Amino acid sequence: MGGKDVIILGIESSCDDTSAAILKNGKIYSNIVANQKVHEEYGGVVPELASRAHQQNIVPVVDKAIKAAGIKKEDLDAVAFTRGPGLMGSLIVGTSFAKSFALGLDIPIINVNHMQGHILAHFIQNEEERYPEFPFICMTVSGGHTQLVLIRDYFDMEILGQTIDDAAGEAFDKAAKIMGLPYPGGPLIDRYAKEGDRKRFPFPISNLKEYNFTFSGLKTSLLYFLKKEVEKDPDFIEKNRNDICASYQSTIIQSLFKKLIQATRDHDIKYVAIAGGVSANSLLRSELERIGRREGWETYIPPFQYCTDNAGMIAIAGHYKYLAGDFADQDITPNARLKF
Ligand code: KG4
Ligand code: ZN
Repeated sequence: MGGKDVIILGIESSCDDTSAAILKNGKIYSNIVANQKVHEEYGGVVPELASRAHQQNIVPVVDKAIKAAGIKKEDLDAVAFTRGPGLMGSLIVGTSFAKSFALGLDIPIINVNHMQGHILAHFIQNEEERYPEFPFICMTVSGGHTQLVLIRDYFDMEILGQTIDDAAGEAFDKAAKIMGLPYPGGPLIDRYAKEGDRKRFPFPISNLKEYNFTFSGLKTSLLYFLKKEVEKDPDFIEKNRNDICASYQSTIIQSLFKKLIQATRDHDIKYVAIAGGVSANSLLRSELERIGRREGWETYIPPFQYCTDNAGMIAIAGHYKYLAGDFADQDITPNARLKF
């Protein structure tokens, strides 16, 4: 680029967060996220409400991101947006906005795969200048996905394994719902688990072939276990909440590491990263460090604000696509089931 600055506007609207970020030469200047509170009372994301909230949020969020970065919209070189995977009604809002905004400014648009965005968040400029080296494995664990991905280069990624039913975040959120906790339950289970005994209640650890995961059986076993116990003692959940959370959380984390360790050994990988909302989990983080030391891994955990859905990760993916001259046409449409 011959020393010229590259300034990207990133837009993320795949699920229930409306986000816009400004990235200049790989560095974040602003990263605004508007969370949608409307879903809390339903115990999960309601697609129709999500897309309506995106429509209300998108203009003020982009405006705020541009102002917070201290730039003018005319300074932008490209608009990167999430094309999928995600909820169709949500994706349409971000995609349509990106297209018309870029058209008005006469700048290119760049389509980004949300899952690749989670992984590439590791390349957002950080103070230590510490980034994963290729090839590395990233375990992406969020409310919608659980994947083990082998990354050979920025856009040369192979999914080694994934969940065949619930995502890891879903396993947290559904358990929280069963226990009467609000959505999203992951952070709450994490908090209660800190005070609990993780060996108290044994739950089954999933063990599918190859590098795939399953979590729906675990959720069902929690449901039946609690049903049985609550019949005997109606206050069982309240009295044992910390131990239930610790035991259940530990089972999810053990299932994840079982496959992660297997994948890194089989592919002789020494660089290991985690991404997605569940990588905020404190047991996952401490186990990554502990097991990483044992296995001889270099480990990478993104800062919290880049773990959960945010437009910074879309902007960094857009940055590398911009450098590669990989732009989208104006007739591009969202894809709810977009593959790599
Ligand atoms: O990446 P993300 O923000 O959105 C999706 O793309 O799904 O991930 C949200 C998920 C939710 O399921 C939430 O419960 C989970 O991440 N989560 C956590 C923690 N913080 C967020 N799960 C366990 N422990 C946490 N500390
Ligand atoms: Zn996500």
